[in-house]
Amino acid sequence: MSESIADMKRTDMCGTLRESDVGKEVTLMGWCHKARDLGGLTFITLRDRSGEVQLVITPESSDDIRSKASKIRSEFVLAVKGKVALRSAPNEKMPTGMIEVNVDDLRIVSESETPPFYIEDDNTANESLRLKYRYLDLRRPVMQNNMILRHKIAKSARDYFDEKGFLEIETPMLGKSTPEGARDYLVPSRVKKGSFFALPQSPQLYKQLLMLAGYDRYMQIARCFRDEDLRADRQPEFTQMDLEMSFVDCDDVMGITEGFVARVFKDVLDIDIELPLRRIPWIEAMERYGSDKPDLRFGMELQNITEWAKTLDFVVFQNAIAEGGLIKAVVIPGGAAFSRKEIDALGEVCKTYKAKGMAWVVPAETPRGSFLKFMQPEDIAALASATGAGADDLICIVADKFKVVHDALGQLRLAAADKLGLIHKDDFKLCWVTEFPMFEWSDEEGRFMAMHHPFTCPMDEDLDHLESDQGNVRSKAYDIVLNGCELGGGSIRIHDRSLQMRIFKLLGFSEESAQEQFGFLLDAFKYGVPPHGGLAIGLDRFVMLLTGAGSIREVIAFPKVQTSSDLMTDAPSPVAAAQLEELGIEVSSSESEADEDSENLVMD
Ligand code: AMO
Repeated sequence: MSESIADMKRTDMCGTLRESDVGKEVTLMGWCHKARDLGGLTFITLRDRSGEVQLVITPESSDDIRSKASKIRSEFVLAVKGKVALRSAPNEKMPTGMIEVNVDDLRIVSESETPPFYIEDDNTANESLRLKYRYLDLRRPVMQNNMILRHKIAKSARDYFDEKGFLEIETPMLGKSTPEGARDYLVPSRVKKGSFFALPQSPQLYKQLLMLAGYDRYMQIARCFRDEDLRADRQPEFTQMDLEMSFVDCDDVMGITEGFVARVFKDVLDIDIELPLRRIPWIEAMERYGSDKPDLRFGMELQNITEWAKTLDFVVFQNAIAEGGLIKAVVIPGGAAFSRKEIDALGEVCKTYKAKGMAWVVPAETPRGSFLKFMQPEDIAALASATGAGADDLICIVADKFKVVHDALGQLRLAAADKLGLIHKDDFKLCWVTEFPMFEWSDEEGRFMAMHHPFTCPMDEDLDHLESDQGNVRSKAYDIVLNGCELGGGSIRIHDRSLQMRIFKLLGFSEESAQEQFGFLLDAFKYGVPPHGGLAIGLDRFVMLLTGAGSIREVIAFPKVQTSSDLMTDAPSPVAAAQLEELGIEVSSSESEADEDSENLVMD
């Protein structure tokens, strides 16, 4: 059955009707959420994007209406005319719960098969099924709210940056593949066989060239593509709110950005964010929180106990010190109550982050611990007093190199806070992390890599030891962090051709290879470059954090799963031989490597 609505015009949205509408004749259109036949009296919950409303068909309704009503199932599309009336039994849980609509005309516009899962907020269907039928999943109010919030943030961005004099300028999707980032998504050229475009990992170089071209303040809500391992907060295709400004320093970019973030909190959640945000140099973030994206919603900071550990005759500590490492601790309040199994689980967290193990002590009257035989009572007392731990607390200790100690204890801090219920989704803590190292050593590549990107400007104070002490050069890079998640990142850029060449050289590029890869930028740098800098905020992550969603997949209409594929369309998929031939491409094997159990495709 598919009835026409040509003679009907929708007057209202379902979720907007209130007591003040009582007596009004309305025409509504939407999906049947639920139909209940109570012996002659039929209640239908009609749903559209704005919400739900109850429709009533009584024994007095016409035979035609009653007969149609008896056929209606969940997800049928209906059009109704009726009168708004007060409900005799209000439903306080529904915003429209004070009223209902007595139906005078009922059309079945489109029927529906039984959907593979209930269209409800507390949907328990597995995520693979939800993604396969994403168009049904997107009908759920919680998903619709996520999309609405996403729209509001994008709109806030356009309004805010427009007010501040930014121009939105689109940059190409088909660009040049450049090294030094994640893996590129490549697009073969038909005209220039054997050559490829790359989809942009970000508009970085274009926005710098726009500064060079005199556009001064640029912003773009830009789609970016990175072929990297996916996680709960990473998609191969994601969206940045990208900006760049000329004649600025770090303070200008950070000021504009935090103003925007505060504006979104106000517009979307009516929350006032106190500005300026706290700024934490990278080294301090690592030392205190074991992370360059510290979660400031709780304490449990890392404490350096190397001096104390030096006095113990414990080979694990002595070896770590001898190898140039250090010993640090995290005190877990109330952790004395943890079982041995729970403590071992924290040890496993440390091992995941490459620690060889985790030592622990409960400094109670009768102490417990993993290395008690190496300590006298006064050693335990000294440790308790140095760390501020009490008899009810658990002291967790890792001894290793700087990176391992901080990574392991940083993750242990998060795991312990989660376990203790200290992480609240509706508590929002923002900060900046600044003064990032310019380079980080890559064991895989056997060379230094740019920590942010190769266009980031080193700090003026560190320019003199660029070549002599590469590992200790800091950069004018900054990340904005929200609740332990990197919301955005940016930097002041190099605008001097010779400094850019020096950096390329330190990254292992010869003059020729730098020219080959980045020639267009180096050439442009010959023609008057304004000092400039910028930043990009991850829109998906911002929406995820504001909605409290567990992954960015929940805030992207059509996301990809673990294998970077789309379960709904089955993309990527093989193409016709003729298409490949036209592109001059020969595929060595058409076997799919990723023929995995779809249940596992969405694991984070
Ligand atoms: P960066 O690589 O730090 O910087 O990215 C900026 C922000 O984009 C988001 N983001 C992602 N979101 C979802 N999935 C991903 N795979 C993903 N990768 C990054 C994060 C991140 O903070 N051109 C520079 C910015 C600049 O220097 O101006 C850049 O892209 O929220």
